[in-house]
Amino acid sequence: MWTPLVALAVTLATETVSAQEFGAMMRFGCAQHAIERLDPVVSPGQVPSQHMHANSFNATMQGDVGEESTCTTCTFSEDFSNYWHPALYFAADNGTFRHVPIIPNVGIFGATGGVTVYYTSPTDKSVKITAPPPGFRMVVGYPTLRSQGLGGAYSIYRCYTDGPLEPNPMGVADSDTQEFPRKHCPGGMRVNINFPNCWDGKNLDSDDHQSHVASGYNGCPSTHPVQLPQIMLETIFDTGMFPKSDWPKDGEQPFVWAQGDPTGYGYHADYVFGWKNDSLQKAVNQRCSMNTCEGLTTQDQSVGNKCTKKASFGPPDLQHWIPNLPGKMKVTYS
Ligand SMILES: *[C@@H]1O[C@H](CO)[C@@H](O)[C@H](O)[C@H]1NC(C)=O
Ligand SMILES: *[C@@H]1O[C@H](CO)[C@@H](O)[C@H](O)[C@H]1NC(C)=O
Ligand SMILES: *[C@@H]1O[C@H](CO)[C@@H](O)[C@H](O)[C@H]1NC(C)=O
Repeated sequence: MWTPLVALAVTLATETVSAQEFGAMMRFGCAQHAIERLDPVVSPGQVPSQHMHANSFNATMQGDVGEESTCTTCTFSEDFSNYWHPALYFAADNGTFRHVPIIPNVGIFGATGGVTVYYTSPTDKSVKITAPPPGFRMVVGYPTLRSQGLGGAYSIYRCYTDGPLEPNPMGVADSDTQEFPRKHCPGGMRVNINFPNCWDGKNLDSDDHQSHVASGYNGCPSTHPVQLPQIMLETIFDTGMFPKSDWPKDGEQPFVWAQGDPTGYGYHADYVFGWKNDSLQKAVNQRCSMNTCEGLTTQDQSVGNKCTKKASFGPPDLQHWIPNLPGKMKVTYS
């Protein structure tokens, strides 16, 4: 079930491929809002949450987020949705960890860190695509996963030697991996993750935050008949700031997700819908592409960059080598 989505992620994210070939693809940036140990979807109200995330709002975040928020970091002024994923750390041989910053993506000018967000719909306007309703949220991926299988591949990694603008992006697609790249990526490491695109049409959330949604790019299953736009997050981490000489001597790759995953298979992401009124539905109906859309407004990224919040409890140490992962998460291989 997941395989076609991965193929889609690879092609969507390949900058040279035109949007028409793969559907109407909205693509825009959302600067980093916060980096902290909060996870309103998985552990609402738990402060701090188990592990460190980027781009979260606050610990509860119930109700219509679009109506309750006062600023957005995103290009589209109407998008108050929340997108977040675990923070990345470098695990040094001496047992210390250091936070890995996010670098800007191709064509997403001036955003502070953050994610590139894609909403893709089939070009064929006879296919009904429905924007999620206020209060809708979902999670993709499993923080404890350490190998392929179980739910399969919904995320994919790309290793840049020169950077996101390096020539011939089609050429590097072959080397995309479902685990952390095993080689040094001086130009950065990109990770993409696809959310499910089918909804049961009833539940805004579910106990596991997943069973109310399903995947099916070529049509939704009868259990989850409502087809949503395909939402994908793309983030590029500055792996190049760590020279190869700092890599572990045992030849393993050094990166770990904040929940203690050294394999890359435990990458996951959370989504809380927050588009104002019917703005996303309008965009989807028109099959808008890239970062402009009739009837929607955009803001300069410098405005979005100002939409930040103070960490809810002690500022995270992002600049130094720290003795433990935040939350004392242990690195586990299984
Ligand atoms: C968290 O966000 C909700 C809106 O989703 C807001 O009502 C609430 O006041 C916020 N709580 C804190 C502690 O900021
Ligand atoms: C631990 O290793 C990192 C990476 O090599 C290095 O920069 C840092 O100074 C080391 N810290 C200690 C306490 O040795
Ligand atoms: C959304 O709808 C409310 C109430 O109908 C209206 O006051 C508000 O201006 C609308 N917001 C946008 C961004 O269109």
